[in-house]
Amino acid sequence: MSIKNKKFYITTPIYYVNASPHIGHTYTTVAADVLARYHRMIGDKTFFLTGTDEHGAKIEEKAREAGKNPQEFADEVAASFKLAWQELNISNDGFVRTTDEAHKKAVQKALQYMYDKGDIYLGKYESLYCRGCEQYKNEKDLIDGKCPDHKTVPERMSEESYMFKLSKYKDILLEKIEKDAVPAGRQELKISPAEKKNEILSFYENEGLNDVSFSRKNVKWGIPIPWDESHTTYVWADAFLNYLTGIGWDGGNPPNPLYQGGFNEFWPADVQLMSKDILRVHATIWPAMLLSLDLSLPKELFIHGFFLIDGQKMSKSLGNVIAPADLVKRYGVDGARYLLMSATPFGHDGDIGYEKFDEKYNADLANGLGNLVARSLTLVEKMREAGMEMKKDKRSLISNWLKSKNDIFSKNDFSKTVWGKFYFNDINNLKIDSVLMFINIQIKTIDVYITTKQPWVLIKNNSKEVGVIMYNILEGIRHIAIMIYPFMPETAGKIYESLGLGSIEKVDFQKAIKWGGLPENTEIKKSDVLFPRI
Ligand code: MSP
Repeated sequence: MSIKNKKFYITTPIYYVNASPHIGHTYTTVAADVLARYHRMIGDKTFFLTGTDEHGAKIEEKAREAGKNPQEFADEVAASFKLAWQELNISNDGFVRTTDEAHKKAVQKALQYMYDKGDIYLGKYESLYCRGCEQYKNEKDLIDGKCPDHKTVPERMSEESYMFKLSKYKDILLEKIEKDAVPAGRQELKISPAEKKNEILSFYENEGLNDVSFSRKNVKWGIPIPWDESHTTYVWADAFLNYLTGIGWDGGNPPNPLYQGGFNEFWPADVQLMSKDILRVHATIWPAMLLSLDLSLPKELFIHGFFLIDGQKMSKSLGNVIAPADLVKRYGVDGARYLLMSATPFGHDGDIGYEKFDEKYNADLANGLGNLVARSLTLVEKMREAGMEMKKDKRSLISNWLKSKNDIFSKNDFSKTVWGKFYFNDINNLKIDSVLMFINIQIKTIDVYITTKQPWVLIKNNSKEVGVIMYNILEGIRHIAIMIYPFMPETAGKIYESLGLGSIEKVDFQKAIKWGGLPENTEIKKSDVLFPRI
């Protein structure tokens, strides 16, 4: 297994500031954090961007309802997103607010470029519009005349508007999405999972791309169109550009080659995470804007599923939300992160709720990982009290022992199989929940190993064999600590310290994933209970 150091740029959608975050937003953000932490851990130069989407009719209306001016309202809600991400130990490198001055200037420069090129023209727009989505709707998209996500009847819009020539880019985008690679082979605009790519392909084929309104006369809360200030920018045109301005693009075209450690280093994005509510706009307007701006396209759009509560999408407008702080209070930061990431297969919808969370927390964390660590450290203490020391085996005894149980472990060495075949493979393919399942198998394996070998009996009998067995157990736990680091960084750090190994943040990853890294005479320190039972 070789890991080449690369750059890795990952984004989340920027969230609307109409309300504080719920665990749907949290899901995307934690997933992006897991991937960003993993890439930093393996040595990639990583940038993780998130932020808030603050303009448009919906925010204007919510601010009015709250009796505040839109900026004041946006400041408050944006602060609640920042706070939530801090509380969840999110390691974002940037946080864009679309009301940032630099962003606004760059949006104006970008629109001017597209206008000068002839890609934006004055026209008239007539369509249905859902303010909840801030998106145009076709009759076909509605159920009983209502937006299926917001359960509201869209308004009919008819006004003079600056239109973006989306139709011009239909053929080229369709081809790119089909191939998901540029001719030279580099990945480009890959839409994952495959069923989502197929949905988009059939949308292109059946409905085509119509030019889209890029300005509003009747919405004051937006970025003025630079050549006609009686219009403001359509909120999505403004919002998409965050993915560029968040890494330092100032709207200059071609991008300024002097950007240091910013745009030229990180663009194009490696992964853009989102859910299916915003896939269509991301697979049409967004890449068309990039083509219009003569910029390259993101490598991959990854579409995860919705969190459902009783079969309904969890959303503020439906009033069925769970706040991230509620999860943190009940399960701790790492418990919350773990439960979100393991809640549903990544890429599919799934019903969630406290009952399931409680059960999983107790099974996997309190009785699983937490108990394994506590029990193993106690055994090493007992063994040392009895005058015996841990003893390194040339090869992982667990691997040897497992040969008989499970063929997977018998063929190659530990880092090639356990790390290479499973962990890297799953995480590189964004099978986030599978990685966790695999880690749980490791935990269970060590548990069974302990139960079978009964080290407590060996300690009592003064049997030398116990030194090797306890080494294997603790070394196995050390590997688990590294595996869980992107998911549960604090717990991983605590385990590493308990093993007498100092800060996990400082590990040399290539070395750390080899079997045998734990010194035999390491000074263990027992920590507080990692996951108190609920
Ligand atoms: N502001 C736009 C995005 C602009 S990006 C250029 C927007 N904001 S949003 O606040 O509505 O966020 C939508 C995103 O939040 C979804 O695509 C998804 O990432 C996340 N989720 C919101 N509700 C969710 C669930 N119930 N389940 C899973 N993810 C959810 O759209």
